[in-house]
Amino acid sequence: MTAKLLQTLPADLDRQRLPRHVAVIMDGNGRWAKRQGLPRVIGHRQGVDALKDLLRCCKDWGIESLTAYAFSTENWGRPAEEVDFLMVLFERMLRQELEQMHLEGVKIRFVGDLDPLPKSLQAEMHRSMVETADNRAIQFTVAINYGGRHEIVKVSRQLADMVRHNQLNPEEITEKLFADHLYTAGVRDPDLLIRTSGEMRLSNFLLWQIAYTEIYFTDILWPEFNRVEFHRALMAYQERDRRFGKI
Ligand code: IPE
Ligand code: IPE
Ligand code: MG
Repeated sequence: MTAKLLQTLPADLDRQRLPRHVAVIMDGNGRWAKRQGLPRVIGHRQGVDALKDLLRCCKDWGIESLTAYAFSTENWGRPAEEVDFLMVLFERMLRQELEQMHLEGVKIRFVGDLDPLPKSLQAEMHRSMVETADNRAIQFTVAINYGGRHEIVKVSRQLADMVRHNQLNPEEITEKLFADHLYTAGVRDPDLLIRTSGEMRLSNFLLWQIAYTEIYFTDILWPEFNRVEFHRALMAYQERDRRFGKI
């Protein structure tokens, strides 16, 4: 089967049992580029195309929410040229793609500590969130300068501060209240998390939210992830028995 043939939901997938929210750790851009003898950043450029098609595919196949890990709090540790390239790429892509995404009914949202990002990028992110806020075709969440531990500490601090100001009793801190203060408040937990490139770790992604998420690892490098690979991941997902601790 070629990726081109998969414009609509493949017949062997059960529409009723699709994940409603898919999250992806888009890993392997650098290795993909290196394999072609190209600089790492070319892999990031190529990775954007893979993400664009996955977003469209989710929409075409009736998946209501997609979350993508674009930059972790640890990724600042990379060489400055690579970090700078990524920041410019995010901004350029957003400028270039916003109109089309809006037309297609994408509601975009960014999660992470956005303050340290370049101001011009922050402005673009803000504009895109405002502009697409009422769209309903698909919810697209991009994690930039995101770290699961950072997020949990941030919420803890916020709640502690409310307790200190007598706005909250410690007994009122529940899982629900905690979740309502996360960046992802209002977005359901992912049903399926996909990580490419063969690494079997979470790298600080959505630590709270993936408590009961099904995880799928593939050796495919992110720039080569396409509808055929996504179909494979969904087939594997539909084989899973989600027990949530029950029998
Ligand atoms: C993932 O690809 C993209 C980001 C982390 C921004 P990598 O850049 O981590 O690619 P590899 O893992 O080095 O191949
Ligand atoms: C995870 O990939 C972060 C993103 C995909 C944005 P990394 O390449 O940074 O993760 P590690 O370093 O292999 O754990
Ligand atoms: Mg990597």
